[in-house]
Amino acid sequence: MQVKIIDHPLIQHKLTLIRDIKTGPKEFRELLEEVAMLMAYELTRNLPLEETEIETPVAKCCCKVLSGKKLGVVPILRAGLGMVNGVLRLIPAAKVGHVGVYRDPETLKPVEYYCKLPTDVAEREFIVIDPMLATGGSSAATIDMLKRKGAKHIKLMCLVAAPEGVHYINEQHPDVEVYTAAVDDHLNDHGYIVPGLGDAGDRIFGTK
Ligand code: URA
Repeated sequence: MQVKIIDHPLIQHKLTLIRDIKTGPKEFRELLEEVAMLMAYELTRNLPLEETEIETPVAKCCCKVLSGKKLGVVPILRAGLGMVNGVLRLIPAAKVGHVGVYRDPETLKPVEYYCKLPTDVAEREFIVIDPMLATGGSSAATIDMLKRKGAKHIKLMCLVAAPEGVHYINEQHPDVEVYTAAVDDHLNDHGYIVPGLGDAGDRIFGTK
């Protein structure tokens, strides 16, 4: 299984609070945003740098700046929205696309119902955000679609993953690195990650 588990103590501590059934929507949203920001730090660890000359109050010097790589963030609706602002706090210049995917109850195949992406897909590096990587169907479909539109560099950011979802992404998209704060035990018969945290969308938006 190819997956990068981000095991920073702050992330693990906050994830435990997020999982707790006693955590209400306000705190859940705040924690999720904080975790997303910390995870974005890891996902952007290898961004290329270049030298630039600046002048400090003391002397001229050559210093490093990001080499202008264009980034795109694509939350999968609706739970992905809960992590976007955390990522944007670290990468404010990133463009944000949105993708909505549901699973057809008859074919069980993912169907895209909404898609709005930056115009220059082929020139960007993308972070697809799917907090709960369950079967992996929605993420794989979103990555398929980004690739069809020309995207070449894609990372997948999750909060909690099921082994089934990680395997599916590894199989369908071996070039896509999967980052998560935890790989849980399994998926139950209703498609929930166990132990997981319940329905991430409901917990973010208080719809249950
Ligand atoms: N989506 C969720 O929100 N939770 C799960 O456990 C699985 C999919």
